[in-house]
Amino acid sequence: MRLSSDGDQPVPGVDFVLLDDVRRSCGADGDSGAEWALSGSRQSDLGPGWPAISGSRNVAPGSHVPQAFVGEANPYTIRNVARAMAAFERTIVGADSAWDRFHYGDETAISESAKRGEILFFTDGGPQCFRCHSGFNFSGEDEYHNTALYDPYPPPNLGLFAHTRRAEDAGKFKAPTLRNIAVTAPYMHDGSIATLEEVLEHYAAGGRAHGNPGKDPLVRGFTMTVQNRVDLVAFLKSLTDEGLLHDPRFANPWPPAR
Ligand code: HEC
Repeated sequence: MRLSSDGDQPVPGVDFVLLDDVRRSCGADGDSGAEWALSGSRQSDLGPGWPAISGSRNVAPGSHVPQAFVGEANPYTIRNVARAMAAFERTIVGADSAWDRFHYGDETAISESAKRGEILFFTDGGPQCFRCHSGFNFSGEDEYHNTALYDPYPPPNLGLFAHTRRAEDAGKFKAPTLRNIAVTAPYMHDGSIATLEEVLEHYAAGGRAHGNPGKDPLVRGFTMTVQNRVDLVAFLKSLTDEGLLHDPRFANPWPPAR
């Protein structure tokens, strides 16, 4: 399917994977992470490299930008950079993990430990993970939660408050995807938790700063045995799509010179 990143006009040469969940999991208003991150950027924010890009039609030999944005006198705009990056991001879909194969019927794809971890993750009344990390990407709907990492949350990372300026939104963040979570340490918005085991300890304690009055009631703490922790980590590790990690299309296009 070929659509622009806004889903309205065709952009030749750019393939998209249109999965509603993938779109929703990105920016707050359904934009992709790149569009979100670059929205409102000025050219001066993009550093010294930008004039070189915007001034030249020959950024890199074989640049596809002019073909992707046909008919634009100068296709090298911040909006187009954001749209191109967003389009690229939407092609990165890690949906072939061991857990996916298990989910689609291969009983042997994940360990017994990971199966127990899956049950803990999804059982109501347990650690409640699935209530926030739901859906195709384990990233929930467009909801924001205060998981009591801090009390109060220190600037500059104030979460939703930065956009709404409402006191009750301080420390509220979107639940990030848990796909490929085993390979994306450190964790949380500020990387303040080093390992998955420690993330689980944080939840089991009802939040690192469990006295935070804005804490989401779902982060209420639970008793975690060593076996539960091992099982939950095994489940989280089963969400890694190894094929995606080694897909040459997503390798560094400029490998360091030897
Ligand atoms: C109240 C909603 C909620 C519940 C319940 C919840 N999470 Fe989270 N989770 C979040 C939010 C929000 C973040 C991001 C917090 C931040 O960055 O400050 C997060 C972050 C994480 C991260 C780090 C992600 C990253 O990329 O850094 C992991 C791993 C995680 N949660 C796993 C779990 C597991 C396992 C459970 C069950 C034990 C669970 N979560 C329960 C909302 C929740």
